[in-house]
Amino acid sequence: MEFFMTIKQILLTGFVLLMSFALLVISASGEYNPDNPERDQDDIGQKIDSLLSIMTLDEKIGQMTLYTSDMDQTGAFLRPEYIDDIKAGRVGSIFNAYGAEYTRYLQEMAVNETRLGIPLLFGYDVIHGHRTIFPVPLGETASWDIDMMRLTAEVAAREAAAEGLHWTFAPMVDIARDARWGRIVEGGGEDAYLVSLMGAAKVEGFQGNSLNDLHTLAACVKHFAAYGAAQAGRDYHSVDMSDRMLREVYLPPFKAAIDAGAVSVMTAFNDLNGIPATSNTYLFQDILRDEWEFDGFVVTDYTAIMELLYHGVASDASHASELALKAGIDISMQDGFYHQTLADLVDDGRVTEAQINQAVANVLRVKFRLGLFDDPYRYSDPEREKAEVMKPENIEIARDMARKSIVLLKNEDQLLPISSSIRNIAVIGPMADNRRDLIGSWSAAGDWTKSVTLLEGLKKRMPDVNFIYAEGTDIDGNSREGFSAAVAAANNADLVILALGEAYWMSGEAASKVDISLPGVQEDLAKELNKTGKPIVAVLMNGRPLTINWLDENIPAILETWFLGTTAGDAIADVLYGDYNPSGKLPVTFPRHVGQIPIFYNMRNTGRPFDADSKYTSKYLDIENEPLYVFGYGLSYTTFEYSPITLSGNELRTDGSIEASITVSNTGGYEGEEVVQLYIHDKVASVARPVRELKGFQKINLMPGESKDVVFTITNDELAFYRADMSFGSEPGKFTVYIGGNSRDTQSAEFVLTE
Ligand code: GLC
Repeated sequence: MEFFMTIKQILLTGFVLLMSFALLVISASGEYNPDNPERDQDDIGQKIDSLLSIMTLDEKIGQMTLYTSDMDQTGAFLRPEYIDDIKAGRVGSIFNAYGAEYTRYLQEMAVNETRLGIPLLFGYDVIHGHRTIFPVPLGETASWDIDMMRLTAEVAAREAAAEGLHWTFAPMVDIARDARWGRIVEGGGEDAYLVSLMGAAKVEGFQGNSLNDLHTLAACVKHFAAYGAAQAGRDYHSVDMSDRMLREVYLPPFKAAIDAGAVSVMTAFNDLNGIPATSNTYLFQDILRDEWEFDGFVVTDYTAIMELLYHGVASDASHASELALKAGIDISMQDGFYHQTLADLVDDGRVTEAQINQAVANVLRVKFRLGLFDDPYRYSDPEREKAEVMKPENIEIARDMARKSIVLLKNEDQLLPISSSIRNIAVIGPMADNRRDLIGSWSAAGDWTKSVTLLEGLKKRMPDVNFIYAEGTDIDGNSREGFSAAVAAANNADLVILALGEAYWMSGEAASKVDISLPGVQEDLAKELNKTGKPIVAVLMNGRPLTINWLDENIPAILETWFLGTTAGDAIADVLYGDYNPSGKLPVTFPRHVGQIPIFYNMRNTGRPFDADSKYTSKYLDIENEPLYVFGYGLSYTTFEYSPITLSGNELRTDGSIEASITVSNTGGYEGEEVVQLYIHDKVASVARPVRELKGFQKINLMPGESKDVVFTITNDELAFYRADMSFGSEPGKFTVYIGGNSRDTQSAEFVLTE
């Protein structure tokens, strides 16, 4: 026996040495050549094939498995044995683990203790910043500044990649028309055109020109698809919609992100028309792979394969894994179902090793492109970590983005900007000196203790002003005990800054609400303060549209500041004192009442459009149809005037173009930026079309008294839609062009499209 054991050990050692040498040869790819990615793609393809040829089935299934570390928790349960899984080669990617030292520690296990030493992929939800936290995505999108959205993703990638991360579960591009849904905060709002631009910019910012670049992250566009249309705004709920709605509204942002190079896609939790996304071959094979020719990899959301059991489409773990693999899902997140079942499914002939090889190849391709086979530790560098994280220029960029994300909703009698002559100011409310909530939800490795509160920002900006602070009430309690101190503070001041809003956990995942008014007794506090007769500026910090009707009717100035991140207090002070003239525009409609939901600007006209003089028209008995604030709305400290639209022609041929131009003038006293928005309405078509759709915008800067001609080029592309037969294209006929500073107050002109 002894003799045979010795032989076996010699053979085994020799085999391991041979495999390690083989992997070394396979992976010796040298630096990725961004100037000739195609050559590298072929090389990578050969290396993947060689590696697959020496991998066992278990090793392949390990690459299809993703587990969370216990450094952060983003789902229902953790899995303490993930360290053992790494050492045994049962996992190919780890998420929620970051830091140069910790990622190196985990990577050394994978590289040194498994037979082939295939490097781990480290992922994390770097949604709006890694350590330096930027405004929540709904806030960033309110800037309508695509270049800034790209830049903040670039900075986030630099910080995250310096802490050992390779992959971010972002951008989230779920269209959201329902403020009850908590994750509305995490995306870009209600419009497909604007969210498409945001999504593409984020991918470009995260991934840069090459994944081999040390400062970039692999992006993961999510959640595919239509997650934001959850029934009744209730998170994870079912989604039912026509193919036309899916393709015209919910899919374009994903296509834009993938066209921008996103290398991974995450499945949505919801079922779509009864078929869960995670087992939906229509979404992941027909559309993503066949129509869009996506060649990256698909990862599920947290335990989503297991959830096929709860959806009621799978009878057991094997059935769930079989459905997911056949739908085109490459990696299972956290439930371990692939690890538990795929080997047996191959043995039983229910799935093929070829299907597994395809999934593994999709994953390995990204690992090769990241350069992980060249050097598995290249991203885990303590020196770079120290140099990159929260460096001053990152903070400056965050402050600039935060300022640009602020939307001025009201400014009666030019109460804002605050005059520097005002010496006594009461700063009141649960958000006035609040630090914890400023970085919002999905703030990952962000350290809220490093955020600047509104009160701190004000004191820094105006050291000689007497700021009198009173909390007044908490965010969602019903205590009025603080009211009297707040009223006293107001009575001792010349102006009140009233900071109201939501806690960070009131939006984000699993945070749907049926009441979207200000939580607690905050509105009562506002009413009490209003009785003092002191001028009040309301500053809102929230993750969803709120029905602030009473504030809108009674408070002279209102700023929507979302959750602005690390530099919140400084950025708000910059705007309040006019160092920056607010330029934000709402990326989502603010309802007057939750009962109006879903409400969005690009609805269809119906056969009985509202008419105040007629009973039998589309309306409510108890509230108007109009929202509180429309999509694209936002004021400035200055005023802008729009000339009538000039069209270069009144007839557009399908192979031609026309130009719509308008002169925008700054008719006020402040330099300011204006988002000039172009909307188009197809007046008659084989399908009833939205009353208007955003088809372009330009953010311009004007000095007081300055005018600029803004020109939009309209081609057939802007007029195409899914026609009655679901073919995609335009139809001849009349179109109306609208141009203005929001989706309602516009100039208009008409043209005709001819064949
Ligand atoms: C969560 C979220 C998803 C996130 C993932 C990993 O459940 O739905 O957006 O990326 O799990 O944290």
